[in-house]
Amino acid sequence: MLEINKIHLGNAIELLKQIPDNSIDLVYIDPPYEQKVSHGSGAFGVEKKLHYAQFDHISNGFDYEAYFKEFERVLKAINIYIWHSRMQMFTLLDYFVNKKKCNFTPLRWIKTNPVPACGNSYISDSEYCFHFREQGVQIYGTVDSKKTYYISQTNKKDKAIWEHPTIKPLDFVKNHIFNSTQPGDLVLDCFSGSGTTALASSQLGRNFIAIEIDEKYHSLSIQRLEADQSQQKLFQL
Ligand SMILES: C[S@@+](CC[C@H](N)C(=O)[O-])C[C@H]1O[C@@H](n2cnc3c(N)ncnc32)[C@H](O)[C@@H]1O
Repeated sequence: MLEINKIHLGNAIELLKQIPDNSIDLVYIDPPYEQKVSHGSGAFGVEKKLHYAQFDHISNGFDYEAYFKEFERVLKAINIYIWHSRMQMFTLLDYFVNKKKCNFTPLRWIKTNPVPACGNSYISDSEYCFHFREQGVQIYGTVDSKKTYYISQTNKKDKAIWEHPTIKPLDFVKNHIFNSTQPGDLVLDCFSGSGTTALASSQLGRNFIAIEIDEKYHSLSIQRLEADQSQQKLFQL
């Protein structure tokens, strides 16, 4: 078993094998996004290619089937949040809704300070997250914590301090974990990045297992978590 309440360094698909069957209450992940990018000129001016932005150097992307198989093995019941790009929506809906017959809720982080560039498309001011849960999986929370959207600036301060390009808003992540777990439950994030899921779980009294492949992010996320836990202890004095 991977140690609980620890951010592990390694490749998720390898380390997941060390987690026992039916031991996880919630999977909360933000895997590398699949995006369309321009690659030189093609027959109609631009050749489009799928790739995984920002993490190409460390990751070979997100092998859906391999990960979904592991998540279903370790989860007590399907209860999973997945941040994704628009390109990944179809695959996720097809798998969890068509094949697995899960309930789903689309969640959205709306940014008030997007890059002001749009060309021949809408502006990129939203990030998306699906919650999938199989029948019988409870959702708790309050009117406030159950809002499906969150409006804020891109968190430039935390981005700068923790040097992670895709850090997610802690309060939104906390709401999701609060709504979908109970105190003492075990949350898994195997694409941990700056450790937002670990931090949110720790602050809410949930247990967690986090995995990050990049040494720099791994080490900075541990510093982030430990700094927060020391502060929590001070407040308890
Ligand atoms: C989109 S970021 C997650 C950001 C995170 N939600 C946060 O708020 O900081 C995805 C992370 O997954 C990591 N990653 C990519 N492939 C991985 C793998 N195979 N195993 C573990 N981590 C991986 C990347 O290094 C990156 O930090």
